[in-house]
Amino acid sequence: MVARDPHRFVNELDEAALERLAARLESRAQDKVFARLLDKYVTRLALPPLARVLEVGCGTGAVLRSLVRRSDFTGKALGVDQCGHFIDAANTFAQAEGVGDRLTFQVGDAHCLDFPPATFDVVIAHTLISHVTEPLAVLGEMARLVRPGGTVVVFDGDYASLTYAYPDHGFGHRMDVALASSTFNNPRIMRDLPRLLPELGLRLETAWGEAVVEIGSASFFRSFAETYVPYVKKAGLLPAQAVEAWHNEQRQAMENGTFFAACNYYTYIARRV
Ligand SMILES: C[S@@+](CC[C@H](N)C(=O)[O-])C[C@H]1O[C@@H](n2cnc3c(N)ncnc32)[C@H](O)[C@@H]1O
Repeated sequence: MVARDPHRFVNELDEAALERLAARLESRAQDKVFARLLDKYVTRLALPPLARVLEVGCGTGAVLRSLVRRSDFTGKALGVDQCGHFIDAANTFAQAEGVGDRLTFQVGDAHCLDFPPATFDVVIAHTLISHVTEPLAVLGEMARLVRPGGTVVVFDGDYASLTYAYPDHGFGHRMDVALASSTFNNPRIMRDLPRLLPELGLRLETAWGEAVVEIGSASFFRSFAETYVPYVKKAGLLPAQAVEAWHNEQRQAMENGTFFAACNYYTYIARRV
């Protein structure tokens, strides 16, 4: 068996698996720590009221819903995702939250989109680049679609830094690696952006990193483990019983207040030259 990033191969998943991933995207968007990371870069974008905004790999639309709820942004935004199931969900959520008139969602492949060059003022990839087949091609497409002087934002985790505490350090490390490699096609890609962005005509304006850390209790990493441990088992990278024991230990630690997990996240804001 081989590891297959579920978001990369999302169109091969069954309905139940899609529902679980959609639920994870929505619960993650509610998470206070994660919401703060999004807010931090959106605040710095200083969006003109009528900015044309594109999010590639928009999933269920949680990022764009959050964007159009801001009082300092009155424009409209477009979200594109390869998964029709997520696009349907994005439309339903946007209507239900009363922002359907400001958001459009459509199916598309971020490697090759059907818009003319320089169509958008801002192009965002929020936890997309770690999943795609060819990160350089997707970044190149983002650079093509943003107007000269416009802004590209790439936000994602450095999943080589993902770690859960586990009493057996050796197995804990193997499990960290298995979780990253069965869930992310490009777990280390965020380290490459300072080199890749200039090659694509994108001048790095600012970048920063933050650790998402949960000690004692868990919400972000609870849902992460519930969603992605099944993919570690499916990939067959480690013995299924040992993976189950690891997961039980994590659940126990969450109950006991002895939990620890962390992962670094990075934001790059670049300007099209
Ligand atoms: C982790 S989710 C992020 C969703 C959304 N940006 C958010 O933060 O809620 C990654 C998304 O990327 C999408 N995706 C992966 N590869 C893609 C591609 N080549 N083109 C378009 N979407 C893609 C998946 O379908 C999934 O919805």
